[in-house]
Amino acid sequence: MANAIIDVVSADELPQIVALYNQIFRPARNIDTFRRRFQGRHNPLYMLAKVGDEPAGFFLGFETKPDTYYAWFYGVLPQHRRSGLGSQLMEAAQTWAAKQQYESIRLECYNQQRPMLHLAIELGYDIVGIRWDADRNSNLVVFEKLITATK
Ligand SMILES: CC(C)(COP(=O)(O)OP(=O)(O)OC[C@H]1O[C@@H](n2cnc3c(N)ncnc32)[C@H](O)[C@@H]1OP(=O)(O)O)[C@@H](O)C(=O)NCCC(=O)NCCS
Repeated sequence: MANAIIDVVSADELPQIVALYNQIFRPARNIDTFRRRFQGRHNPLYMLAKVGDEPAGFFLGFETKPDTYYAWFYGVLPQHRRSGLGSQLMEAAQTWAAKQQYESIRLECYNQQRPMLHLAIELGYDIVGIRWDADRNSNLVVFEKLITATK
């Protein structure tokens, strides 16, 4: 089990989260692209995971439909992987979303994101579809999990 502290943080922590994002994902994105995407979104969630005092992972999400919460981006720094931190982050987001009365969580994942495909199955998500992403010329696997049971 990861010895991590996971906090729900405010949008003020976005710079730290974007710094983590840019250590985990390519291409890099600047903070304005995140601010733009969150504009007008209902119930944004910013979560930061720390191991000791060091940021180690993050989760970003927002409402996609009144009953469905969308896990947009989340990741763990390479040196902290496979110690349960990714699961801890997803479970914290699920618990938060259930408390907000959402019935399910949705996430989307490219075929190349193998660790995430494994993690989604491990956490009990169902594959509910495939979506073509014309920007990336690639399919996204769509996963959903009912979270009402964890309310
Ligand atoms: C996906 C990601 C968040 C997983 O984080 P993590 O902290 O390593 O995940 P966990 O340690 O909680 O893994 C839990 C289980 O998921 C599965 N899993 C995770 N990574 C795996 C891998 N590379 N290969 C196979 N199974 C894997 C395993 O069943 C694992 O349990 P185990 O270690 O006891 O075998 C991390 O790999 C990551 O940040 N990837 C890059 C970013 C990304 O793809 N984000 C998702 C899309 S937005």
